[in-house]
Amino acid sequence: MISFNSKTNSFRLDTPNSTYSIFINERGYIGHAYYGSKIGDDDVSYLTRNKEYGFSDNKIFREKGSFLDFFPQELPTEGLGDFRESALAVCDSEGHNAIELKYKSHKITGGAKALPGLPAVFGGAEDCSVLELTATDDILGAEVTLVYTVFEKLDAIVRSVRIKNNGAKPLYIKKALSLALDLDNDNYDMITLHGSWARERHMERHPVHMGKQGVVSIRGETSHQEHPFVALLDHNADWDSGKVYGMNFIYSGNFVADVQKNQFENIRAVMGINPEGFTWKLENGDVFDTPQAVLVYSDSGLNGMSRTFHDLYREHLIRSPYKKTDRPILINNWEATYFNFDTDKLIDIAREASKDGIEMLVMDDGWFGHRSFDDSSLGDWIVNEEKIKGGLKHLVDEVNKLGMKFGIWFEPEMISPDSDLYRAHPDWAIQIPGREPGMSRAQLVLDITRKEVEDYTYESLAKILRSANIEYVKWDMNRQLTDIGSVNLPADRIGEFYHRYVLAVYRLQERLLTEFPKLLLENCSGGGARFDPGMFFYSPQIWCSDDTDAIERLAIQEGTALIYPLSTMGAHVSVCPNHACGRVTPFKTRGYVALSGTFGYELDITKLPPEERAMIPGQVALYKKFSSLIRNGDYSRIASYRENNEYDCWASISKDKTKALVTFVQVLNHPNYKTRFLKINGLKPESKYRITWPDEKAEDFPAMELFGRTLANAGLPIRRDWGDFRAQLIFIEEI
Ligand code: DGJ
Repeated sequence: MISFNSKTNSFRLDTPNSTYSIFINERGYIGHAYYGSKIGDDDVSYLTRNKEYGFSDNKIFREKGSFLDFFPQELPTEGLGDFRESALAVCDSEGHNAIELKYKSHKITGGAKALPGLPAVFGGAEDCSVLELTATDDILGAEVTLVYTVFEKLDAIVRSVRIKNNGAKPLYIKKALSLALDLDNDNYDMITLHGSWARERHMERHPVHMGKQGVVSIRGETSHQEHPFVALLDHNADWDSGKVYGMNFIYSGNFVADVQKNQFENIRAVMGINPEGFTWKLENGDVFDTPQAVLVYSDSGLNGMSRTFHDLYREHLIRSPYKKTDRPILINNWEATYFNFDTDKLIDIAREASKDGIEMLVMDDGWFGHRSFDDSSLGDWIVNEEKIKGGLKHLVDEVNKLGMKFGIWFEPEMISPDSDLYRAHPDWAIQIPGREPGMSRAQLVLDITRKEVEDYTYESLAKILRSANIEYVKWDMNRQLTDIGSVNLPADRIGEFYHRYVLAVYRLQERLLTEFPKLLLENCSGGGARFDPGMFFYSPQIWCSDDTDAIERLAIQEGTALIYPLSTMGAHVSVCPNHACGRVTPFKTRGYVALSGTFGYELDITKLPPEERAMIPGQVALYKKFSSLIRNGDYSRIASYRENNEYDCWASISKDKTKALVTFVQVLNHPNYKTRFLKINGLKPESKYRITWPDEKAEDFPAMELFGRTLANAGLPIRRDWGDFRAQLIFIEEI
């Protein structure tokens, strides 16, 4: 709910458990008064310290320089005296870097608003309302609108910024972030996600220190390395208690998220498109919309924050018809065959997989052009009939005859120098004229910001999809952007390239879904480098990581699930020794870990040891039984191997709290410890629950009955297993 109090010149943005308060001071500056647990209907403008004087003794008028460097701002700007991190920087056509925002007007409406060309949260008037707060800089002729989408049933506020040039001369936006949040210091800790290829989104927590700290990408995509997410939380906050501010960016390109503790020991957090390498020229009348950034407030620890993000994305960002349904259990041939496959091999895999209840075959990289390794043919999306004998339609029909769906891999944004496409259009690759472009995985990136390149790319994909009954696409992206140049853009617009590139990716995926609305799209980028909420608008699931090892996946899936629903996490069972790290783990453990994602297989089922093969039908049955609970329930982290160096544990609890599925992985067994007692929060305290181990013999794991209150406070006994990498799946159901 959003309200405006004209007496106090304040806006109040209320969600079920939080209040966000904005104060317009007497000089028109837009101040940030409060964000946190719900407060009374009071004038809290005093929290901005608007009337406090600075070092000069002028009690009435504080000098602008010192005022701007102190006042908490909704959208801090560069160049006029706020020396903290800015969120907006604009240069006029004479080269002056300054913009000052003064309140002009506001509008409060019901229902979320779309953002042109960008992913955006959606919802009707019953779900959310929108505040558009417009400020101007009359010297520049700039009009800046701060947009807040406030959710009625979720503790989430989504922000974006619209910048319009009403002046006669061009303006150059140098920095346009989506979110700024000024908070009084409360000895916060900070959580960010870091990693590398095959090690994505590992959590890191540390106290906020003086100065600036944060995460960033300048790779043209979200990246394996850092993630557009920051949480600020009480130093003592844990999974289930304490206050947490979570920030996440709905975007798939360069980003920055910084936290700065300043001279007064106050905190400013900002998030948005990375200003490095960015400028955007606005001619008279032009408008620039920033992507949306999400703010989540939780007074019930990290699990509270995760649940809000999960609900927001499941209900108000993912559009796919698959979002609430079971996903087909797929088998992907990448780790099974790499490039070495043909029709017969794929049909063999499909035939055996269909016997065990697997529902879809996905043909990965290597089916097109003359690609038999990763050094050719990207861009030549023509079926290689030496491998796919009889053609693609024949293969798909044969797979369909086995009762299975068919899916296919593309890497649409790329071009191999060894390709017919490159030989015909060498200038279609992103490059700086006269400079040899940097290669990565022997490939270059197509300049899809050019209309003719976008159209070629779209048509070559669509042609394949029109040619056979293809129900799933894995959209891969295996290198980062360098050598930024485009024949499309003049020198004073080259800084628009990165963002235009992301808009082109979104446009391509939107076109695909418009023509093929039932398509199940899975995004991917060398594993999980494009696992971000921007992609959720197009694909309900994203490949989480090229590391399919069950133990490595624990940290990857823990960090991913901190923000994103389990229904979005691409997770497959693969063979051992694992192809990414050589570890050997029980097949059962691999199954349980993959079960907490979209679930599928990535192995040559025809070569699987019989005892492992024999377990597949049981795993498929577990998926069928628990899919809805895992994908639609409330996620709750119970323990982390990262913290205890011993075991990992998480649960999915049904919204009505009648059922829960707990996954427990004993990573390392240490000698001479006793039974563990795991505290399961989130069930009904007064209800009695029956606890079973659905994948075990009842005589080995006898059922138990405990009250919800007992499970939360005394805990569930978990016996120790002999050896490392053991796992248990525990089902809890109200009696
Ligand atoms: C990277 C992906 O993450 C893998 O799953 C696989 O599709 C390869 N690319 C294919 O090149």
